[in-house]
Amino acid sequence: MAQIHIKKEWKISENLATSESVYLRRREFLKGTALTTAATASTFYGCGPSTPPKVLPEVEWSELEKSIYPATRNLSYELDRPLTPENIASTYNNFYEFGSDKTDPVHYAQKLNIRPWEIKVGGLVNIPKTFDIQDLLKTMPMEERLYRLRCVEAWAMAVPWTGFPFKELLKQVEPKLEATHVRFETFYTPFTAQGQLAFWEPWPYVEGLTLKEAMNDLTFLATGIYGHPLPKQHGAPIRLVVPWKYGFKNIKSIIKIELVDYRPATFWNTLQGLEYSFTANVNPRIPHPRWPQTREKMIGTGEIRPTILYNGYEKFVANLYK
Ligand code: MTE
Repeated sequence: MAQIHIKKEWKISENLATSESVYLRRREFLKGTALTTAATASTFYGCGPSTPPKVLPEVEWSELEKSIYPATRNLSYELDRPLTPENIASTYNNFYEFGSDKTDPVHYAQKLNIRPWEIKVGGLVNIPKTFDIQDLLKTMPMEERLYRLRCVEAWAMAVPWTGFPFKELLKQVEPKLEATHVRFETFYTPFTAQGQLAFWEPWPYVEGLTLKEAMNDLTFLATGIYGHPLPKQHGAPIRLVVPWKYGFKNIKSIIKIELVDYRPATFWNTLQGLEYSFTANVNPRIPHPRWPQTREKMIGTGEIRPTILYNGYEKFVANLYK
């Protein structure tokens, strides 16, 4: 599938950032399977805009959201590098439901309807509950945190998320003693999210953590970024943020959370287990077959930095892996 790309100066070099999906799709295409659906998907991916819009799509704010953002910053989480400018972070996204090019989600994710939005929390809990996003916004202790994000594709960014610690949600449902893991699931609406038409991929996007990881102070559910509600391309209305793990663990637009007593299957691990582990902790000593894991490139500035164990969050999480 030949595509002509006019390279933007802020784009990182292709050898650092060939997306997982492009790579995996190419193999599938070569196998010659599923021609009809492949044709549909390639129309969607091949002809989409390959440049970010000049004016970013507007984020709608409700009265409730105006009273929440910007939230007070929690100063326990410091950065060692400048924040990534918003116009870079919000136009360079991985959200394969809305395309495999980094600039696709800012266009296509705008189709996602994020109100009403419910998150069903169940499985091995004493009090299963379905939360409306509005109720979460009203009742959860909202704060801002500056976190680094390191993608397995060797690019990185540093952004201010707004949201609440995941353990606050868990407290409300009371996990049972037998629960060992948490499973997260994204919506499944292939007619608006046409990436999900690729039936050879295990949609919907799912992710998982051990319960201990989920209870860690760093584990965060974000509803906002840069002092306002999350734009759709970042995973509105609610997404996971686990900054010591590779970016693909940070599942977007969550509709379901289940407490389970087994290690749940995850999207990328199911597609290509040798490249994407379940644990996926940032670790420069574990090589990846396609991307260098000892260094990373900051999107926006192109600065190259050494990658640090647990993405620099060792003091918060090292005890989980002893
Ligand atoms: N969540 C869903 N539902 N679908 C996705 O394709 N991509 C993941 C993660 N969450 C993804 C997802 C990957 S690979 C990365 S690097 C981060 O989202 C990127 O988050 P950002 O676009 O907000 O920077």
